Amino acid sequence: MPVVRGKIIEPLFTAEQIAERNRTIAAEIANGPTKDLLVIAILKGSFIFAADLLRALHETGLAPEVEFITLSSYGSGTVSQGVRIVKDIDSDVKDRDVLLIDDILESGRTLKFAKEILYERGARNVSVAVLLDKSVKRKEALEADYVGFECPDYFVVGYGMDVAYAFRELPFVGVVTGDVDEEAQKS
Ligand code: IMP
Ligand code: MG
Repeated sequence: MPVVRGKIIEPLFTAEQIAERNRTIAAEIANGPTKDLLVIAILKGSFIFAADLLRALHETGLAPEVEFITLSSYGSGTVSQGVRIVKDIDSDVKDRDVLLIDDILESGRTLKFAKEILYERGARNVSVAVLLDKSVKRKEALEADYVGFECPDYFVVGYGMDVAYAFRELPFVGVVTGDVDEEAQKS
């Protein structure tokens, strides 16, 4: 079991599984109606998924433009009440076909907010690709057009996703299951 920063991380989706899904999703996107895509990655959590999915899109022959938006949810404790733009995109989205990329679709608040502002700005069509779908946590009527994996209701880390700023660099998605020091004390 991988140990990082003294924590035991149980892999949930391996780097190989993710790479294979990325190729499949890229092919689905390439078979979709749009060839002239503006991809907008929602930072920070999607940065590795977006980088890999973009290169898989290149393999299909698509040549998307790429933008980044940093969104943050606010609220008390773990209860999210709203979403705000921390850093906006630079491009004009008017009449563009946009593909939003995010790491996890959970309540749906983040992606609902992002879709709404893009349509308000005149985007022609906004589709959504997420690596993980925690559909049991949904609060908004929003579904992704492209999903890597259905995600069990665990807090996951790695492949761009963090807990308290840690573990974004892991090449796989995993769950923190324990502490090396505590395990050593038990035995
Ligand atoms: P939503 O607005 O509730 O759909 O929240 C989705 C956002 O919450 C994702 O973009 C992630 O940044 C974050 N998030 C939700 N679940 C997890 C998790 O298990 N690990 C890391 N981040 C998560
Ligand atoms: Mg996020």
